[in-house]
Amino acid sequence: MVKVAPSVLAADFSKLAEEIIEVENLGAEWLHLDIMDGHFVPNISFGADVVKSLRKHSGLFFDVHLMIENPDQYIPNFIDAGADLITVHAEACRHLDRTIDLIKEAGVKVGVALNPHTPPEVLEFVIHKLDLVLVMTVNPGFGGQKFNSVMFEKIKDLNEWREFSEFEFLIEIDGGGNLENARALEAAGVDVIVAGTAVFGAEDRGAAIAAIKGD
Ligand code: DX5
Ligand code: ZN
Repeated sequence: MVKVAPSVLAADFSKLAEEIIEVENLGAEWLHLDIMDGHFVPNISFGADVVKSLRKHSGLFFDVHLMIENPDQYIPNFIDAGADLITVHAEACRHLDRTIDLIKEAGVKVGVALNPHTPPEVLEFVIHKLDLVLVMTVNPGFGGQKFNSVMFEKIKDLNEWREFSEFEFLIEIDGGGNLENARALEAAGVDVIVAGTAVFGAEDRGAAIAAIKGD
């Protein structure tokens, strides 16, 4: 069974606490928090203070996705805010190995995200340190975009890499995850499906969460 990580980006920002309590009660175990800086991606979302406020209302596993330039400068704030996992973009880190260490040394789980154009090979010499690899299945910046099915090939490569090595990272996808592609993603080796629109935009959010998980 896969885990579903509802993305706050698609929730109603005027009542965020209620929204996340609802998805927690409906069976979600992770919560995906998209941090956008208007530089690395062409959109601005919210920062560590919002994450910290939400932390008080939720026992969900906080999956923080940093779509920001110069993440090293802000990582301590997200650690302090209560992130359980921090994912940085390979494309935004000049010294990716150092950034990974910065997160790990704080006892927080660490992931690296790959934009659609970035091959998994960029992770060759850091993969042993990672808890998770995030395969972007859209170009990051906005919710509600179309799933890029070419990324199945990248997921399969990562899954084979994991299978034929001693590494145990999770594979997560982000962008356009929904009821229709969940089973194929699971079969390809995906462990966590981020779902913004497919959960928060659903009429029956509980049914959407259960269907994506494969309950
Ligand atoms: C895209 C974000 C996603 C987004 C997913 O830049 O990283 O997490 O919220 O939204 P949906 O599921 O609507 O594609
Ligand atoms: Zn995301």
